[in-house]
Amino acid sequence: LETEGDSRVNFLKEALHIAREAGSVIANVFQETKQNVQTKANCADLVTETDKAVEKLIFDYLRTKFPSHSFIGEESVSDGAMQCHLTENHTWVVDPIDGTMNFVHMNPNVAVSIGLAINKQTEVGVVYAPMLDQIYFGVRGHGSFLNGRRLSVSKSITDISQALIATEFGSRRDESVTTVCANIQNILMKHKVGGIRCTGSAALNMCSVASGAVDLYYEWGPQCWDVCASHVIVHEAGGVTTDALGQNFDMMSRSYICASNKHLIEQLVPSVTQISLAQ
Ligand code: IPD
Ligand code: CA
Ligand code: CA
Ligand code: CA
Repeated sequence: LETEGDSRVNFLKEALHIAREAGSVIANVFQETKQNVQTKANCADLVTETDKAVEKLIFDYLRTKFPSHSFIGEESVSDGAMQCHLTENHTWVVDPIDGTMNFVHMNPNVAVSIGLAINKQTEVGVVYAPMLDQIYFGVRGHGSFLNGRRLSVSKSITDISQALIATEFGSRRDESVTTVCANIQNILMKHKVGGIRCTGSAALNMCSVASGAVDLYYEWGPQCWDVCASHVIVHEAGGVTTDALGQNFDMMSRSYICASNKHLIEQLVPSVTQISLAQ
């Protein structure tokens, strides 16, 4: 990474350091039966003491290093201790465990996600999956990498009928699920497609687009901490992110995210029915 004199190199270095520390905390308790699992909105929306401890670890570290920066973290926002509000200030957007349901079930698709937005755009992103031994990072303008190897989105798949797609059912359990399922049915009926995968981690789905392990990922309703870091990782691997209409993706919108090599999104768009519920 040739970015000497660029402060983002230092931001990346610190994000990588604390992501690794956070990953060790997760790995140390991974095989234990989780105690104190709390339900947030519903049975699909869980939090453990490890989610909270990891978020605190990351913020304590970054606050000491960068006291003038702002912070958004899933569990602090859930507790009402923090606002989910992005300003022009340097803002760290953190998901301490993306894939809490997996974590509770000892399923290895869990990741720490640390993104840094500057002027409301992600400049640095780190996604670390400790149980998979995968560390992804990206810096705007300088590429994205998995364990040091430069990433590229899939180039040969340009027809959605051949695509391997990742999506999620999300963490809502209300009537919106009907549309989520209808969209999957539409995609299967219309395009057939090679396959559909749900890993249970938005961040890892995004990173799989970046590495070419899947060709397209879309989901309705992710929060900024789910995708802030991985957003720059996809871009720097040559991918695009849009909403379900093919317009620019806004990570604060909580609408759809579609991430792909540039050929597939416009083929997906006609198959997706928009969901508009009060947020
Ligand atoms: C969830 C995961 C899941 C996605 C949900 C997210 P969490 O994050 O990324 O894949 O479908 O929308 O809330 O709660 O495990 O951090
Ligand atoms: Ca959660
Ligand atoms: Ca998440
Ligand atoms: Ca989380």
